[in-house]
Amino acid sequence: MHILLMGPPGAGKGTQAAELVKEFGVPHISTGDMFRAAVKEGTELGKQAKACMDAGKLVPDEVTIGIVRERLAKDDCKKGFILDGFPRTVEQADALKGILEDLGLSLTRVLNINVPAADLIERAVGRRICKKCGATYHVKFNPSKTEGTCDECGSELFQRADDTEETMKSRLSVYEDSTRPLIEYYQKAGLYTEVDGRQAIDKVTSDLVAVLKG
Ligand code: AP5
Ligand code: MG
Ligand code: ZN
Repeated sequence: MHILLMGPPGAGKGTQAAELVKEFGVPHISTGDMFRAAVKEGTELGKQAKACMDAGKLVPDEVTIGIVRERLAKDDCKKGFILDGFPRTVEQADALKGILEDLGLSLTRVLNINVPAADLIERAVGRRICKKCGATYHVKFNPSKTEGTCDECGSELFQRADDTEETMKSRLSVYEDSTRPLIEYYQKAGLYTEVDGRQAIDKVTSDLVAVLKG
């Protein structure tokens, strides 16, 4: 179960990865989450990543590839992983191929959550995340029971710094230029499957699970 979860910003990669972790018990590896953790820790990597993220630009390939290489070498990835938000460029996809070859692993499937651009800004701007456990909500599409408070652990919810309309425009344009070409890349590799991400969250999950079990 070595899978890539792809999709434009705000498509639901993190939301669905959390469900797939429950179903399949493999680690969820999100480069965005790794960069945000580095920002919080105030490391050199965090400083570099923050400037890129706040501008809605990609962190340089060599930096991103380096942290993924380290993470995938850990033992827990042998049984599987769900990679979320990596690769995002053809250079990253080529590097991933080499990393997996070195580890004696190969991709099981590439799943793309397809959502039209028109819906994505609303998804990002309305997103709320738990400070403590990372659970993801949406003020309209998936609200917490008490506004501003996490259902799972009772902690406070926050908004990501890059979830503004302006930054989303830049993230979407970067997606079109740098990441969309990966659809054809993985189609050619015979690994690509698309799921309709406009459906309700639980329906998207059941479609993804059906592909992976089918
Ligand atoms: P990252 O954190 O990966 O951001 P992203 O790709 O823009 O994706 P998001 O996390 O915003 O969205 P998501 O698809 O996870 O959606 P979610 O489930 O939260 O990356 C951030 C930044 O880090 C990048 O901009 C870049 O700077 C850097 N970076 C990361 N990886 C990199 C790489 N490989 N190379 C270089 N730089 C990199 O859902 C969104 C909202 O929608 C939520 O509120 C949710 O509740 C709601 N929602 C989910 N599903 C549905 C549904 N079916 N219906 C209605 N609402 C829904
Ligand atoms: Mg995410
Ligand atoms: Zn929580």
